[in-house]
Amino acid sequence: MARRTIIAGNWKMNKTPSEAVALAKELIPLVGNDNVDVVFCVPFIDIVPVVEAVKGTNVKVGAENLYIEDSGAYTGEISADMIKDSGAEYVIIGHSERREYFNESDAFLNTKVKKALEKGLIPILCCGESLEQRETGVTIDFVRYQIKCDLAGISADDAKKIVIAYEPIWAIGTGKTATSDQAQEVCQAIRECLAEIYDQATADAIRIQYGGSMNASNAAELLAKPDIDGGLVGGASLKPDFGEIVAAG
Ligand code: 13P
Repeated sequence: MARRTIIAGNWKMNKTPSEAVALAKELIPLVGNDNVDVVFCVPFIDIVPVVEAVKGTNVKVGAENLYIEDSGAYTGEISADMIKDSGAEYVIIGHSERREYFNESDAFLNTKVKKALEKGLIPILCCGESLEQRETGVTIDFVRYQIKCDLAGISADDAKKIVIAYEPIWAIGTGKTATSDQAQEVCQAIRECLAEIYDQATADAIRIQYGGSMNASNAAELLAKPDIDGGLVGGASLKPDFGEIVAAG
């Protein structure tokens, strides 16, 4: 079964609302590829103006995080309902920066994935090993562990809606991309793990992105690999290069 390519930009903590609108307007004419789902994942405060800016285009909007409760005394947090009502359709969950700087555990992330699904948001669930784990030879064991914990208790029908992003931590923001063979090896292992948890048809339906220094020159080779169905792009998503990445998809 053919999986539709999905290229998402993760803007991280960049762009004020007015800068975000300007960037969205700059990128929209560059990302018109009918074969690719294009998503801008933006800071919470930028969601409403960016949703407005992309209206009538092929671009969808995502959040970069969510909180697990529906409402209440959780000062500073943002709920899935708030994200959904703002017009975003996707949400990044479990980015390595949140795992590391905000101590987000797999059990907590599992709750976030369930909450996103319950509220009709599409989770972009991130996983990936550190340099130390790669050098120790436990990459695939570790990524399988993350996937199994983060998807615990999620049905096959719900799992099919999820996008998984394999992002080796050592490749994020470092300019060191995983080789296409390294990325394919882990994305294939993730799909095998999904087939074990669910079944082959479910595993074949789930899209797996690569993320980590993806740019205009390496995107085509990465996206040509059989188990790489898209990209989660950081730095290059803030530049016209993002259009070239979308064109490669
Ligand atoms: P870079 O593309 O800047 O390496 O970031 C990747 C990333 O973390 C996307 O979520």
